[in-house]
Amino acid sequence: MKTLIIANWKMHYGPIKAGAWIRAFRRERLPKDVDIAVAVPHVSLAAARASLGRASIPALAAQNSFWIDDGAYTGETSPAMLLEFGVQYCLVGHSERRKNLGETDDMVAKKAAALQKSGIIPVICVGETEAQNKKGETNKVLRQQVSAAIADLKDGGKVSFVFAYEPVWAIGSGKPCPAQRAKEAHETIRSVVAKKFGAAHAQETIILYGGSVDARNIGEYVTTTGVNGALVGGASLDPRVFGLLCRAAMPT
Ligand code: 13P
Repeated sequence: MKTLIIANWKMHYGPIKAGAWIRAFRRERLPKDVDIAVAVPHVSLAAARASLGRASIPALAAQNSFWIDDGAYTGETSPAMLLEFGVQYCLVGHSERRKNLGETDDMVAKKAAALQKSGIIPVICVGETEAQNKKGETNKVLRQQVSAAIADLKDGGKVSFVFAYEPVWAIGSGKPCPAQRAKEAHETIRSVVAKKFGAAHAQETIILYGGSVDARNIGEYVTTTGVNGALVGGASLDPRVFGLLCRAAMPT
């Protein structure tokens, strides 16, 4: 399976800076055997698409979506609207949204299912807080979040959803989760997917690690069994640094 690296800019870069980032990143030497995507703010999707032109690398991703295609939902953006920009992936249930915007497991499930139905691959973010980690509740939290998130997903026969294990305590902290611990968490996620979709499907499911990933430590993750790539925050903001990280993710 090809390694997948997704940049998550979070709430950085309006249209002007987004366009410049894409143009600068396109000048980087990009590895062919790594899939690369960039999750940009909604307001910057048009500029990112325009700067990409006909190029398909990096793929475009969104950071959030609603679950209904149109209607009286002020301020929301639907999967159908995201499709107009050629969005291929959309983050769902990032811990920052769960914490700051009250996003629940039920909302995450609805968003993931609506995206999958529209043909956009939901990148479902799960992960325990520091307190849950200290209490030894990591696996329990993951099982709960993953089983809730996949409740309405269908077996499309091919990769139609992605998971990202992002321990909350590792995000933006400079304290990445050791690769061996990430491996165990990924096994837990995969086992829940296997229960619903079968072992073969679970084996093919892409599970990313996210939390303080940089160009120096990416190699450890992508060479760890069951870790299929990364979701990168801070280290994706500079296109040259992100280019370096993508090259370092290349299989040797
Ligand atoms: P950092 O890479 O900045 O820790 O952020 C991780 C993250 O939240 C990606 O979604």
